[in-house]
Amino acid sequence: MNRAKSATKVAAEPPTVAALTEAEAKAELKRLAEAVAYHDKLYHQQDAPKISDAAYDALRLRNNEIEARFPQLIRPDSPNRRVGAAPSQTFAKVVHAKPMLSLDNAFDEDGVRAFFQRMKNFLRIDLDGIALAAEPKIDGLSTSLRYQRGKFVQGATRGDGETGEDITANVATLREIPKTLQGGGWPDTLEVRGEIYMDREGFFALNAARENAGEPVFANPRNSAAGSVRQLDPAITASRPLHFFAYAWGEISAEFATTHWQALEKFRAWGFAVNPLSKLCHGVDELLAFHRWIAAERAKLAYDIDGVVYKVNDLKLQERLGFAARAPRWAIAHKFPAEQGQTVLNDIIIQVGRTGKLTPVADLEPITIGGVVVKRATLHNEDEINRLDVRVGDTVVVQRAGDVIPQIVAVVRERRPKDSKPYRFPDRCPICHSIAVRERGEAATRCTGGLICAAQAVERLKHFVQRDAFDIEGLGDKHITAFWEEKLIRSPADIFRLDFNAIAQREGWGGLSAENLRRAIAARRHIALDRFIFALGIPQVGQVTARLLARHYRGLKPWRDAMTAARDHDGEAWAELNNINGIGEDTATDIVGFFAEAHNQKILDDLAGEITVEDYAAAAPIASAIAGKTVVFTGSLAAMSRGEAKARAEALGANVAASVSKKTDFVVIGADAGSKAGKAEALGVKTLSEEEWLALIGRS
Ligand code: IVH
Repeated sequence: MNRAKSATKVAAEPPTVAALTEAEAKAELKRLAEAVAYHDKLYHQQDAPKISDAAYDALRLRNNEIEARFPQLIRPDSPNRRVGAAPSQTFAKVVHAKPMLSLDNAFDEDGVRAFFQRMKNFLRIDLDGIALAAEPKIDGLSTSLRYQRGKFVQGATRGDGETGEDITANVATLREIPKTLQGGGWPDTLEVRGEIYMDREGFFALNAARENAGEPVFANPRNSAAGSVRQLDPAITASRPLHFFAYAWGEISAEFATTHWQALEKFRAWGFAVNPLSKLCHGVDELLAFHRWIAAERAKLAYDIDGVVYKVNDLKLQERLGFAARAPRWAIAHKFPAEQGQTVLNDIIIQVGRTGKLTPVADLEPITIGGVVVKRATLHNEDEINRLDVRVGDTVVVQRAGDVIPQIVAVVRERRPKDSKPYRFPDRCPICHSIAVRERGEAATRCTGGLICAAQAVERLKHFVQRDAFDIEGLGDKHITAFWEEKLIRSPADIFRLDFNAIAQREGWGGLSAENLRRAIAARRHIALDRFIFALGIPQVGQVTARLLARHYRGLKPWRDAMTAARDHDGEAWAELNNINGIGEDTATDIVGFFAEAHNQKILDDLAGEITVEDYAAAAPIASAIAGKTVVFTGSLAAMSRGEAKARAEALGANVAASVSKKTDFVVIGADAGSKAGKAEALGVKTLSEEEWLALIGRS
């Protein structure tokens, strides 16, 4: 329902929030609380709104801005707190118009030089002295802010990069996020991206207050920023010391800069905070000097940073370099060296994963490293334990780098207890007691129990419902374990057959939570093909591979038929699977192996009776001469590397295959082409010279 078509008349421009005295703010908050309540009533109870949606949103936005500046004045009847205008239980989803990608990391100088070398190989041009922006890498929460004609309209979290959460009301409370852009010259549609973070001082003050109130404290400023933004009640967000730095952009309706540096300057002019320490550098050496300088300054900064991000300045070059699976080729995060500490290894625990892999995990005497309490560290596998000769009771050196799982890097031999014994890796699964075997040439030891192993079965179910798979809210790890033990859920399809009346009677549940779970499950009876494939938990099939498979086979049935047929390694189906770019023989073997198991086929049949898997919806169709075509490159091209040619073809909607078959549409023949040219001719596939290819993709 629209509030009202006609806009209300606005009298004199109200004073800016920054100019309000405390007394004025107090009076205005009271007025706003009453006004919002009045309009809510007209809208919800009388279906007779008197103001437009935009005017109503402006009232709330103004309220949030004032609350953000004067958190001590937030009223009990604040529009954000009032029952009746109850905040939504979950955040709405936002599909990013342009995916929010991550960054590749470099951990040392060699890593940075390798980044330059990769760009050089890709572009085939000399990059000495090339301009790159160096920006402090803020340890916060990646956020996308959408503006329409200079007005803030939506804020979203990164989420899985493709879909985030709508946090508009929350981010609107941040003073450093402009609600109206200053100056001019912005594109009508503009998505500014950057980091929401909490400064250290604010973080310590918040934790002190929480401790006083008997509430749990946050582990670090990053968690605390994320926790503050993902609040159902924006008044809480408003009361937290949050800041924002702009450093990137997503969808734009028109280009507004030719270099990254120019873009940052525009952001600044439009009213965003841009990190003042960022520097435009030329060549590797200047970048490394900047990194050394900021590493020395780091402790003095008001906020946490975990490295420096280098970005190619010229946007034309950025465009040519494009993106690999999860990160741009034109940028890299040069991380600071990992932080270390020493502690005692209390025990080695063996965890059994979804695929039966036995992973040894160090149970440590808790230690704080870089502001985070570490209690566990991975020991990877048997070889790693032997290499370190790590024993229970040893004092060990633990290292933590960013989000990476903490690692044990060394044993302090001088502090080894006299009676310590070398660790013996188990030869039986600690959960189901089946024999655990280590295949020749493999590092992993695996439980042979398959689905009779509770650990494997439970881990597969946890994977099935996780956020990036079926995303069933309210069905957490603990519930899965409990439901499995009580035989309520033994296979994925059982989730869709749960008896919610029985669940409502369980301890810790009730009618409302059972009803919420029923709804959350019902909402997933329709699922996208790529999520479904990922949810199956096939070894080596992560989100990226699942998407590749979905994109290629389009529907569940064609995929399933093809994977079953691919068991014949001499047939077309096996060749086709191996031909998908990004899928190697190892992964193909695991996928086909999954379908060869009768119990997996049964799981699929069983699920088919409960859910609908939607056909893959291709992204907006790309209008190009090669969209949807299958292209094979052979020989070397003069104008670009093979990598760039492949990336360009894919960006224009083509599939790039490794070998020629009847399904190939074009074979692009470069210099010194091999047998593929002959094969194309034999099969009657169209061949193109490099010039013809460049003309086809609109580049000469
Ligand atoms: S650029 C397509 N610049 O680091 C490139 N990211 O590890 C998008 N981050 O998800 C990212 N400071 O949350 C960029 N100056 C900066 C950054 C930065 C912090 C975060 C961001 C990103 C993560 C990747």
